[in-house]
Amino acid sequence: MRRAGPGRRARAAHGLLLCCLLPALAEPAPARAPATPAASAGTAHPALWPYAHSTGLIDAASERRIGALMARMSLEEKVGQVIQADIDSIKPADLRRYPLGSIMVGGDPAPSGGMRAPPEVWAAMTRAFRRTALERRTSHAPIPLLMAIDAAHGIAHVRGATVFPQQIGLGAARDPELIRGIGAATAQEAAAVGFNWALTPTLAIPQDLRWGRTYESWSEDPALVREYAGEMVRGLQQDAGVPVAATAKHFLGDGATTGGRDQGDAPVSEQQLIRTHVQGYIGAIDAGVMTVMVSYSSWQGVKLHGNRSLLTGVLKGRLGFEGLVVGDWNGHNQLDGCRSDSCPQAMNAGLDMFMAPDSWQGLFQHTLLQVRAGDIPMSRLDEAVRRVLRVKSRLGLLQGARARALSEDPSLDRLGDPQHRALARRAVRESLVLLKNEAAVLPIAPSAHVLITGAGADDIGQQCGGWTLSWQGASNHNADFPHGDSIYAGIAAAVASGGGVAELSVDGRYAGRPDVAIVVYGESPYAESLGDRSTLEYQGGADAALGLLTRLRQAGIPVVSVFLSGRPLQVQPEIDASDAFVAAWLPGTEGAGIADVLIGDAAGRPRYDFSGKLPFAWRNGAAADATSSFFPFGYGLHYPQAAQVIAGTDAASF
Ligand code: BGC
Ligand code: BGC
Repeated sequence: MRRAGPGRRARAAHGLLLCCLLPALAEPAPARAPATPAASAGTAHPALWPYAHSTGLIDAASERRIGALMARMSLEEKVGQVIQADIDSIKPADLRRYPLGSIMVGGDPAPSGGMRAPPEVWAAMTRAFRRTALERRTSHAPIPLLMAIDAAHGIAHVRGATVFPQQIGLGAARDPELIRGIGAATAQEAAAVGFNWALTPTLAIPQDLRWGRTYESWSEDPALVREYAGEMVRGLQQDAGVPVAATAKHFLGDGATTGGRDQGDAPVSEQQLIRTHVQGYIGAIDAGVMTVMVSYSSWQGVKLHGNRSLLTGVLKGRLGFEGLVVGDWNGHNQLDGCRSDSCPQAMNAGLDMFMAPDSWQGLFQHTLLQVRAGDIPMSRLDEAVRRVLRVKSRLGLLQGARARALSEDPSLDRLGDPQHRALARRAVRESLVLLKNEAAVLPIAPSAHVLITGAGADDIGQQCGGWTLSWQGASNHNADFPHGDSIYAGIAAAVASGGGVAELSVDGRYAGRPDVAIVVYGESPYAESLGDRSTLEYQGGADAALGLLTRLRQAGIPVVSVFLSGRPLQVQPEIDASDAFVAAWLPGTEGAGIADVLIGDAAGRPRYDFSGKLPFAWRNGAAADATSSFFPFGYGLHYPQAAQVIAGTDAASF
């Protein structure tokens, strides 16, 4: 079987191939807003939007119980419910005075002991907050906390957690059941350390891949995002057997900002929001997602945190969302006239809970005054409180709260559970996209002498990317991951069992001549705006990897590139310098999944085929550049299949 790498010439049959592979790209380009925004800019018309249905969030008996509870709550208690503080800026004892509704853990904050704190310390921290919240003297049963944590790819902030591939890799896997399983495993690990709210999934549909959050998204295809949103929410909220709420974020159009600028403005038409960016929310709401997070970004110049037509008219109205709308990290302070500690505008637009990590105290005082003064209508506060309590009720927190909170003391045994790790390893296998395999260099025989080289060869931190142990995930070492394998470790184990040799050499020098070299390289970890780029060029020319590939090739050693990245980047020189090229995204802690696919069995057959398909089109140069390759959405080679190639010239027609 001939296995060719990507060529560069257009072929007649491509029109047919593309029409089937590119449903999303068949849509017209987003309309641009006029240079001077009209008076109605940023105002949605709910009647134009589709319907959705907030499955399972409302039932008459619990609504009555919530009503009875609210009738006994003081104004302070109500205001407290709509405020969320971060663990870095509040002590459990503060909850005796300030009856807040929720405590969260953002990207960096960690319990004492810092980001390397053992899970026992995390569990003691959540327990202290949860218990203290129940010690309040009130005229009604004390109200338990929502304890929230980011969970972009598992609860990766907590040492010892299973770190799954970032969402972009799961988009490549094209396996809805896998996503559902990961949702359930993530919820179990969150509950294991005392959290009942996972701030995931991201439903963005990035249009400009220079955006630093591209990897937090599944795909450019709205239909795929809609389907996966439902699966992930069902996995997190229904299958796990633990009370955990999911979060659909960031509402709305976070992936549509000009130039892919984080927190920027999305100048797209209302139709474009409807056709593309809202699709995931329909899947999530229909699946019963309990919370939605508001985007930092703006639509047609209007910040989402203050956009009543979208938050109230569309989300709570037309889309029928009955859960709670939470803000992003001090996101309300970006509204005109607002500060981190004061923003009636956001509540009046439809926000139900402020994410006020370090500003909660002032915000509590000011919001109280604003309700007393009528700047926030009592009816609006009541509606917000009802939604917060509804989520708590769905989680079972309002039924026998004290007993329940004690019996639910976190049990750490599900953290890094072997079954979860096996699932993550399967996810890695399924996420790999083969872009080139010339001369059948893959699969590699397990009896081979394999050189493993490149900056990412033995670096679990780089494999994981951002939102791992810390916000940026930038300075993690293998020792920070008590569970998990680097890519090298996985390959070493696979060849050890086949009689081969795996030689690790980050700079590419070798003792004995290898049969084949696997070069692992790509992006270093980043999160949010720190990952925004001005160009999609990988800058291979300046990178050590290209020199390494070239040197090995010149020595006559077949070269396999394993590219770690949060998005498609322009890697034409690297592809040209490789015999095989694998897009591995950001696979997480279970790097052994890569060896599963790259290293064959003793008879030279693959143990697992490549099954990943590109979740985003992958361009290796400008659209007009005929010398660079273009891999369309859905592209991905299999072992027995010859390469199909779309040349850059074809790309111009998109
Ligand atoms: C991000 C959210 C995240 C939150 C808490 C924000 O900056 O946009 O996705 O959930 O921080 O860490
Ligand atoms: C926090 C993140 C948050 C970011 C927002 C960081 O300090 O740890 O959770 O997303 O700030 O800018």
